[in-house]
Amino acid sequence: PDHTMDARIAAARAKLGKQALILGHHYQRDEVIRFADFTGDSYKLSKVAAETDAKYILFCGVHFMAESADVLAQPWQTVILPDLNAGCSMADMAEIGQVENCWDSLERLGVGEGLIPLTYMNSAADIKAFCGERNGLVCTSSNAPGAFDWAFARGQRILFLPDQHLGRNTAFAMGIPMDQMVVWDPYMINGGVDPARLKAAKVILWKGHCSVHQRFLPQHVDRIRAEEPGMKVIVHPECRWEVCQKADALGSTEKIIEYIEKSPEGSSFAVGTEIHLVNRLAARFAPLGKRVITLDDSGCLCTTMYRISPAHLAWTLENLVEGNVVNRIKVSDDTKHWAKVALDRMLEVRT
Ligand code: 13P
Ligand code: SF4
Repeated sequence: PDHTMDARIAAARAKLGKQALILGHHYQRDEVIRFADFTGDSYKLSKVAAETDAKYILFCGVHFMAESADVLAQPWQTVILPDLNAGCSMADMAEIGQVENCWDSLERLGVGEGLIPLTYMNSAADIKAFCGERNGLVCTSSNAPGAFDWAFARGQRILFLPDQHLGRNTAFAMGIPMDQMVVWDPYMINGGVDPARLKAAKVILWKGHCSVHQRFLPQHVDRIRAEEPGMKVIVHPECRWEVCQKADALGSTEKIIEYIEKSPEGSSFAVGTEIHLVNRLAARFAPLGKRVITLDDSGCLCTTMYRISPAHLAWTLENLVEGNVVNRIKVSDDTKHWAKVALDRMLEVRT
């Protein structure tokens, strides 16, 4: 770990005082997250961004998170992403033009009636706006079931973007059979789906995934069961359905932490999520007699979360001290309006 930036970060923060708020997603590296005023999952951090009165919100996370913070913040607040290259490969799997084409095709194929668009937080602001404008909403992994209920109270079918795994895991847990779910491939005519199957579908899943969580496989769970009897397996719902089915519990990053916190001393856990969070949990809970290991020994790293370094944080803070705003994330006013509608609906849904 590089601690040489610590003094610079601390000095700049002290000068900025309460004007600057640092948010840190649970996947951030140790040497960044320890400077966060708040840590959390996407849901919790977006709530903090919506409620803070700090002038500058430094989002140590990825691009879609900073965009959402900008949508939810007041016009006089400024959101900064310390490295503009911190994107999300899953969010990049759905592009607004593709989503519009999909929507038009679904209407043409006669399944537009009662169709509610629901996007995972891990998507660009224009896709959130698309959903807001069409009576849809946003969800995170901590309130996806509530968002599905919200959508089914207003329509009979959901178009879920962009993570097929979160969509499938949520729908299945709600009792929707697999034959009422289809996967829409944006690179195929009519999504590559037989129109008769589309008509029978209650959930249309966009063909997107998280390349980090997709690396966890059912055989990893089988190995833990064989080698570590009694160990609980907890995974993020971005993991494949086959993995989630074999796990003891699923949850957002915040829920994974809570699960371990609430478990009795002496418990042990194999966790299927990003390696920085897993390593931090292992270190935090070892003195409390709880053992935490990663579900996959190769250690799944989110390389884009990792882009945020102490040097980037120091640089953005020092610029603020000098009166310069660098790496601002600003969503256009047009997009902001409907994206905010969709995000406000999300914040009303139970976690
Ligand atoms: P959480 O909302 O659970 O923190 O998940 C965000 C994310 O990107 C997981 O890959
Ligand atoms: Fe995106 Fe996956 Fe990284 Fe989460 S872990 S930010 S979904 S690439």
